[in-house]
Amino acid sequence: MKALVTGAAGGLGLYLVRALLAHGWHVTGVDDLSRGRDDEDLRAVRRDVRATFAAGDLTDPSTWNQFPGGFDAVYHLAAVNGTRNFYEHPARVLRVNLLTLMHGLEWAARVGCGRFIWTSSSEVYAGLEDIDRLVLPTSEDVPLIVSDVGNPRWSYASSKIAGEALCAAYAREFGVPVVVVRPHNIYGRRMGWDHVIPELIERAQGGERPLVLRGGDQTRSFCFAEDAAEFLVRLAEAPLDLRTVNLGNGREEIAIVDLAHRILRALNVADEVRSEPAPVGSVARRRPDTRRLEAVTGYAPRVTLDEGLPSTIAWYLAHPRPASSVG
Ligand SMILES: NC(=O)c1ccc[n+]([C@@H]2O[C@H](COP(=O)([O-])OP(=O)(O)OC[C@H]3O[C@@H](n4cnc5c(N)ncnc54)[C@H](O)[C@@H]3O)[C@@H](O)[C@H]2O)c1
Repeated sequence: MKALVTGAAGGLGLYLVRALLAHGWHVTGVDDLSRGRDDEDLRAVRRDVRATFAAGDLTDPSTWNQFPGGFDAVYHLAAVNGTRNFYEHPARVLRVNLLTLMHGLEWAARVGCGRFIWTSSSEVYAGLEDIDRLVLPTSEDVPLIVSDVGNPRWSYASSKIAGEALCAAYAREFGVPVVVVRPHNIYGRRMGWDHVIPELIERAQGGERPLVLRGGDQTRSFCFAEDAAEFLVRLAEAPLDLRTVNLGNGREEIAIVDLAHRILRALNVADEVRSEPAPVGSVARRRPDTRRLEAVTGYAPRVTLDEGLPSTIAWYLAHPRPASSVG
């Protein structure tokens, strides 16, 4: 079986490449290294003869066109992610996320593939909270809402909602075998430095006391990256009428304040936190309904947050944020 993985040097991408190789796949990875890193982890994977990597910008259609058809699964993960980018570079977020997808769908319509699996985001549900319509756990079938297209915060969610519309249209008009996946708070080693868990580790280790949490009462459901990658591998055989599926661990939901306590205790440092009001627009609770995901893949998360945190913390302590890290 052959897979193309875009964003292969990124946080989730490299976990996926490893999982596909472990399942016996041949993998071609592509990334422009704008956020993903050509580090020792990536080099270790590249030593596998079944893995090849190409550097390239997927907003350019010629990058897609260098790949022939014949992939059993195309995983299109490349995107501009990271909250800081949503505010500081909203045009880049929309441009990259939509152009890479549009060219990918055009290419897939032309050359064909077994499945075209594209990562949307849990952020597509955020607008429902603004109109008091967010139901938890959140199922795939709720309407998707953009609260304010003029607010840069919505650049990312807008790109994902418009991307879902593109996927539906290319499936209908050109028969592209699309599966839209909505990841929810994937965490683990080497997942970038601008997610909530690495940021808390960094600030706790840096000595910030009390650890100030903007929105400590907010909750998230964290899914260990190895579980997320296993789900993605299994989605290559998802039925074509699946269309959309949440990706995450719907079995756990934790308040950020409790997460901070766990991290401080694991670091064996003073356990002092102070919660302040959440930033405007930040989602109060997030928990996916994962019944569809678990039914279609025949898999359930194996790693609880308590089990996944220690190796994550250890990795981030050994790998402080590099000076060149982009959000
Ligand atoms: N990690 C999560 O919890 C989470 C949650 C929701 C959605 N997602 C989505 O899942 C996907 C993977 O997320 P991630 O956490 O691995 O993000 P990431 O930023 O770590 O990885 C994305 C990769 O895409 C690459 N890239 C960006 N622009 C590119 C371009 N023009 N051409 C080629 N490569 C390009 C980056 O260099 C990076 O390596 C993204 O689409 C993201 O929006 C992730």
